[in-house]
Amino acid sequence: MERIVDAKKSEEDIEQTLRPQNLDEYIGQEEMKENLRVFLKAAQMREEALDHVLLYGPPGLGKTTMAHIVANEMNSNIKVISGPAIEKIGDIATLLSSLEENDVLFIDEIHRVPKFIEEVLYSAMEDRVLDIMVGDVNSRNIKIELPPFTLVGATTRYGDLTGSLRDRFGIIARLNYYTIAELQKIIWRTSKVLDVEIEKPAVDNLAGRCRGTPRIANRLFKRVSDFALVLGDGFITDQICEDSLTKLQVDKYGLDSVDYSLLKAIVEKFNGGPVGVEALAASIGEEVITIEDVYEPFLLQNGFLQRTPRGRCVTEKTYQHLALENSDKLC
Ligand SMILES: Nc1ncnc2c1ncn2[C@@H]1O[C@H](COP(=O)(O)OP(=O)(O)OP(=O)(O)O)[C@@H](O)[C@H]1O
Ligand SMILES: [Mg+2]
Repeated sequence: MERIVDAKKSEEDIEQTLRPQNLDEYIGQEEMKENLRVFLKAAQMREEALDHVLLYGPPGLGKTTMAHIVANEMNSNIKVISGPAIEKIGDIATLLSSLEENDVLFIDEIHRVPKFIEEVLYSAMEDRVLDIMVGDVNSRNIKIELPPFTLVGATTRYGDLTGSLRDRFGIIARLNYYTIAELQKIIWRTSKVLDVEIEKPAVDNLAGRCRGTPRIANRLFKRVSDFALVLGDGFITDQICEDSLTKLQVDKYGLDSVDYSLLKAIVEKFNGGPVGVEALAASIGEEVITIEDVYEPFLLQNGFLQRTPRGRCVTEKTYQHLALENSDKLC
């Protein structure tokens, strides 16, 4: 099912337009920005490439954006590849040997780089050497020196990275969900960039419903601006915002029908929990990994769901929100 509040789905064209280009334009994640500023400055003072950077956190929070910003701030070129696209040693060898001094190599979804390729990365990151075996029968080892470069890796699954790979990053930054105030700023910025006017109560309304995620904020903004254009004169009033989000079935916390069906399943079929994720997945016809990666993080973070050693449980807040009267069954 298509979800408007799915942090993973992206509309590439508007994402490009809305992507902040430098650290000053990047809203929020203050600690990460402050540290990066220092490390960038130090690297420039030493006339060295920035140390390798690992960015991790839930989808849609600005990892790809930050990777491009690092390259911009260093006045460097960026080469982009996704983990699953690196299938053969040859793929990574070509990529690494094409690097020029101080280039940024951005590997998205780095947890999906195959293990045997990861090993090539170790020496490239640590010793700046491309160290591979070539040939089938008379295979021999070749070593090629690489120029100074910065590898920026991004992942939504920090835990899936091997310790050996993690250890080779000098800078590791975790991206967190954004605060309401930061999301408001992001929405004002989007309004300016897209040249679509919006009133303050509508900004506040949107900020509360986008699950702490800029990508969702921008997507909701886009949809609400469609309603404003067709049903009004293009100006996003709070009334239009409210009406369109109701039509889009996004509630005041940013929960949608998928969240409701998951929470209701726990309440109605499993007595509020605890329920194992496999049983839950089967009961709503979803895959375990989708529940773990897409549905759960926001519900856990916002206290609608609890993870216990015996399984998932709903909370008092869930019962209140769903207006159900089973709170005596809290686990
Ligand atoms: N700090 C920010 N300030 C303003 N806009 C932001 C910020 N972070 C992200 N965005 C907006 O959100 C969109 C999504 O961000 P981005 O693609 O960088 O997320 P991501 O973490 O790489 O997600 P994924 O894990 O799915 O790859 C960007 O196109 C940008 O418009
Ligand atoms: Mg990304």
